[in-house]
Amino acid sequence: MIRSTVIGSGAYLPDRVVTNKDLEAIVDTSDQWIRERTGIERRHIAADHQKTSDLAILAASRALDDAGLMGSDIDAIILATATPDETFPATAVKVQAAIGMQGGFAFDLQAVCTGFIYAITTADMYIKSGMVKRVMVIGAETFSRILDWEDRTTCVLFGDGAGAVILEAAEGDGTTDDRGILNSCLYSDGTKHHLLQTDGGASSTQTVGHVRMLGREVFRHAVVNLADAFAEVLNGVNLSPDDIDLVVPHQANKRILDATVKKFGIPKEKVVVTVQEHANTSAASVPLALNHALKEGRIAKGDLIILEGMGGGFTWGASLIRW
Ligand code: ACO
Repeated sequence: MIRSTVIGSGAYLPDRVVTNKDLEAIVDTSDQWIRERTGIERRHIAADHQKTSDLAILAASRALDDAGLMGSDIDAIILATATPDETFPATAVKVQAAIGMQGGFAFDLQAVCTGFIYAITTADMYIKSGMVKRVMVIGAETFSRILDWEDRTTCVLFGDGAGAVILEAAEGDGTTDDRGILNSCLYSDGTKHHLLQTDGGASSTQTVGHVRMLGREVFRHAVVNLADAFAEVLNGVNLSPDDIDLVVPHQANKRILDATVKKFGIPKEKVVVTVQEHANTSAASVPLALNHALKEGRIAKGDLIILEGMGGGFTWGASLIRW
């Protein structure tokens, strides 16, 4: 059977770093409150001239370098973002032009913080169908542009960044020893729409709106939903938490992350935590954490890895990959 294997990874964080201490000058908060509640220490904020596409192009170019490929080798781009450059066209087509990808297709996908999990799963389906051989999957956000910088309950939690992977079709035996994506699950629950949303949009207010969130409610659902997704991708292929070599979770809050893996008895050494460095970068957070783990040499060929995410909608999901 056809499997989707990861053959390249890239990441980009803007140069400008804003620490928790810096935020003390903007809103009534403290470094201690932010660290204790979330694990966040700093976040990267895009320069005024940088758009989501600029971040995405840098991450995509680095993924191409990592894979030893050119833009013309890519058949499709799926870019997960909730902060596109414009309402249309898709930010993905700007990346397509910038990396010199001829032909093929490029589109944006919107599942907020679960965007990368949705995008990599969608790419896997295209590859498994035989329609394409190589897909660039990107998560890129400039969340700083949709934050209300006077609202301390949200502005301290998010940051900007981009991460990318390249998936390539490979032949597998259909067993869990195959390299590539072994199983995925995606969910959404529109009845929770109001718990995490923007208070505007093209069709409602003709503005992009600002992030609004009932943090406590989101926290409660995040732990339950992520644990469900985690169990489902493993159970679906008869593997257990003991088989996992590394968990690469969405980086929203260290407490959510700790509570989720604790349910399965996964030791902390097997969990990638980068939230302290870049806060919640929404769709970019999983590929950023993945790239960080690769750079640190924490992933070896044959390792079993879980990617997982949860965000507005609610949306949530997980992807199980043999490296
Ligand atoms: N600095 C200082 N005090 C603050 C801040 C802040 N930045 N923000 C809120 N507070 C205050 C509140 O006003 C409240 O004060 P009060 O008791 O006088 O009313 C107090 O701190 C406690 O507020 P809570 O919201 O109850 O604090 P909680 O312990 O729930 O922590 C947090 C808030 C960190 C947002 C937590 O609920 C959380 O992590 N939720 C998950 C949300 C999340 O991660 N969302 C990201 C997007 S979704 C996703 O990616 C999964």
